[in-house]
Amino acid sequence: MPKICVIPGDGVGPEVIDSTLEVLHNLDVNLDYEKAIVGTQSFEKNGVYITKETLELATTSDAILFGALTTPRRRDYVSPLLLMRWNLDLFANIRPALCMNIDFCLVPLDVVIVRENTEGMYGAEEEEFDNNIVITKRTISEYACQRIIDYAFKYASEHDRKKVTCVHKANVLRTSDEMFKKLFYGTAVNFAFYNKIRSDDVLVDAAAMYLAKEPDKFDVIVTLNLYGDILSDEAGGLSGGLGFSPSANIGKDHALFEPVHGSAPDIAGKDAANPTGMMLSAAMMLDHLELPRSAFLIRESLKNMFQDKNNWTKDIGGECGTKDFTERLIKTINEKADSY
Ligand code: NAI
Ligand code: MG
Repeated sequence: MPKICVIPGDGVGPEVIDSTLEVLHNLDVNLDYEKAIVGTQSFEKNGVYITKETLELATTSDAILFGALTTPRRRDYVSPLLLMRWNLDLFANIRPALCMNIDFCLVPLDVVIVRENTEGMYGAEEEEFDNNIVITKRTISEYACQRIIDYAFKYASEHDRKKVTCVHKANVLRTSDEMFKKLFYGTAVNFAFYNKIRSDDVLVDAAAMYLAKEPDKFDVIVTLNLYGDILSDEAGGLSGGLGFSPSANIGKDHALFEPVHGSAPDIAGKDAANPTGMMLSAAMMLDHLELPRSAFLIRESLKNMFQDKNNWTKDIGGECGTKDFTERLIKTINEKADSY
């Protein structure tokens, strides 16, 4: 039985995790869950933000299901999430954005952003000089670029996507981003020939505009770490808000699934969190574990739910609380399950 390391985190994290576990239990998938704490909860109990035991549990699990975590205002803080991404070499961050109902989306978006997850600006290596100048190091390697490009094309062909767009800033970063772009077209040639997948490239600033103005232009986007972080929040906002955005962090041997949103302290404890992003992340996990029927049931039921305004969550102007929404979703899934 696959072992799932569950890390609810804090804020709305435990709320959306509880809802999602309820849905998973109801689906009757055979998974063995083991819960762990990280972040401030772990620091108060163990003096570290993530213990060796938790890291070991994450490493030996078949998947990690992660809620959300508040970033404490401390200089010595190292994010357990970043630590897991590095230690487990979770090099690909997959962030789909899908408009389920145009009545609450800004544009009819259906795009998957494949973001390089290990380098770029996120080494956070900054050096301060006497004259109030800070220099930040940004690493871009051929190895990491090629690996994420390969992953994006493989993802596109496995998910019946027609086009991959490379998003970069090669007009300014003429060595690093130009290398990324060149490697992209080197790979694109093969996929055009064997898999009929089209390709093009767009500058990151223009991509931000096109997402809002011509969302049809995009199918799969492959991009570097910081660009992907920013564009995926934009895509989430365009398709209903952060509560709708799922993500997967994939490595060769490990995988972590989490919603894009943070701990949302402004709505925590108020039964106001939209658990959709978390549930869609769990659906990505089920696909990863080769349980596609259950993944399909979650996705299709969520889409159905949002066609009816009575099921709308509070973030999109509805009245459905987290718990009520979860109950209704389980009912919808059970009805659907009979016909699939
Ligand atoms: P946030 O994503 O927590 O919230 C941004 C806005 O979106 C808020 O108005 C919030 O109410 C809303 N929102 C977020 N998730 C929602 C949901 N499921 N349903 C309905 N509305 C939702 O970002 P923010 O406020 O910048 O960060 C809060 C804390 O979370 C910070 O400490 C931040 O560092 C941390 N954070 C953690 C992440 C993670 O655990 N992966 C990712 C992003 C931020
Ligand atoms: Mg972000």
